[in-house]
Amino acid sequence: MTTDETMALYSSHVIGNYDAVRVPVVLVKGEGSYVWDQEGRRYLDLFPGWGVNGLGHCHPAVVGAVQKQTGKLMHVANDYYNEHQGRLAGMIAERSFGGKCFFCNSGAEAVEAAIKLARIYCSPRYKIITMTNSFHGRTSMAMVATAQPKYQFGLPPVDLGFVYVPFDDLDAVAAAIDADTCAVMVEPIQGEGGVNIPGADYHARLRELCDRHNMLLIYDEVTTGSGRTGKYYAYQHFGAEPDIMTLAKAMGGGLAVGAIEARPDVAAKLTPGTHASTFGGNPLACVGAIALLETIERDNLLEHGTKMGEKLMDGLRGLAGTFDMIADVRGKGCLIGMELKVPGAEFRTLCRNEGLLINCTHGNVIRFYPSLCAAPEEIDEAVSIVKTVLPRI
Ligand SMILES: Cc1ncc(COP(=O)(O)O)c(C=O)c1O
Repeated sequence: MTTDETMALYSSHVIGNYDAVRVPVVLVKGEGSYVWDQEGRRYLDLFPGWGVNGLGHCHPAVVGAVQKQTGKLMHVANDYYNEHQGRLAGMIAERSFGGKCFFCNSGAEAVEAAIKLARIYCSPRYKIITMTNSFHGRTSMAMVATAQPKYQFGLPPVDLGFVYVPFDDLDAVAAAIDADTCAVMVEPIQGEGGVNIPGADYHARLRELCDRHNMLLIYDEVTTGSGRTGKYYAYQHFGAEPDIMTLAKAMGGGLAVGAIEARPDVAAKLTPGTHASTFGGNPLACVGAIALLETIERDNLLEHGTKMGEKLMDGLRGLAGTFDMIADVRGKGCLIGMELKVPGAEFRTLCRNEGLLINCTHGNVIRFYPSLCAAPEEIDEAVSIVKTVLPRI
């Protein structure tokens, strides 16, 4: 099938909600940091799958584990045990704060579960404080939690119990707390909001504030978790532990997996009947997620990813000396933003034409989420393409 034929099928049969962002490229194959299109053109993918492909495309450890499991048992309902779900939950707990997990299939579902659990645990308190420029997903409750009106469509005209305050502003959080407030939900580092890293003591002080008011702290680690920032979970950079954490994206090594982990006493409130997911924690998804954690450990990828992220940031900062349109380069590990003084949409297109896939968020922040396995030469290639493209915008 040609690219035009594939696009024609979409035009006739697929709802056009992605039309504003979808580019005329049909991807057919991926390996490591590269993907190929239907015409055989190769691209260096530094924003693989919106951050899902944390080990790059088709990592052999994930492919091998999934192939083996596919021939054995793909799906069983949660009214039976499967040997992989419990093991995965234990591996996440060991690497984080010793909580218990509930499994689902996406980030928004994890956010929904976290909101529900916080409200059950703290009942009758129900208000949740979230941050300006946050992103928590597109289901109804997750989009209300997302403090950005541009993402809020189709909501009923009722108050769903969220209060918005500026990110990285503790006084604003303190001022927003009232007798009905049960939790604060925040990304440790905002991704979609523009790769925003809070001050060094923000999270520790937020933790204290939550403790003082007997409120839960929910970290949305859908983007920042699973090694993306050079720690297993980004909160580990900041000296504050959550009561509930959400996971998805890179968690499954490329498969659709989501989860929450909650402090055991909080988790205990998700009693039988309160929550469920048909696909959540199925054996196939779990072996992908286990392969991701095993590979990060075996190949020392937190350290490697941190080095590659620093190499990329150094390269981009080097370009800032020559190209005045770079306002800032910031990031942690393999979560990197380059803020431009001009809109970034054209830059994204020009990079694609030169064979580099990246993302632009908030109008002018270029996001690079390289795989934790990226090679130094791939980082050099990306910087070289950026250098070629910058004078053209
Ligand atoms: C921090 C955060 N939470 C939740 C979500 C929603 O995840 P999903 O698209 O898998 O529902 C996203 C997606 O970008 C995210 O970045």
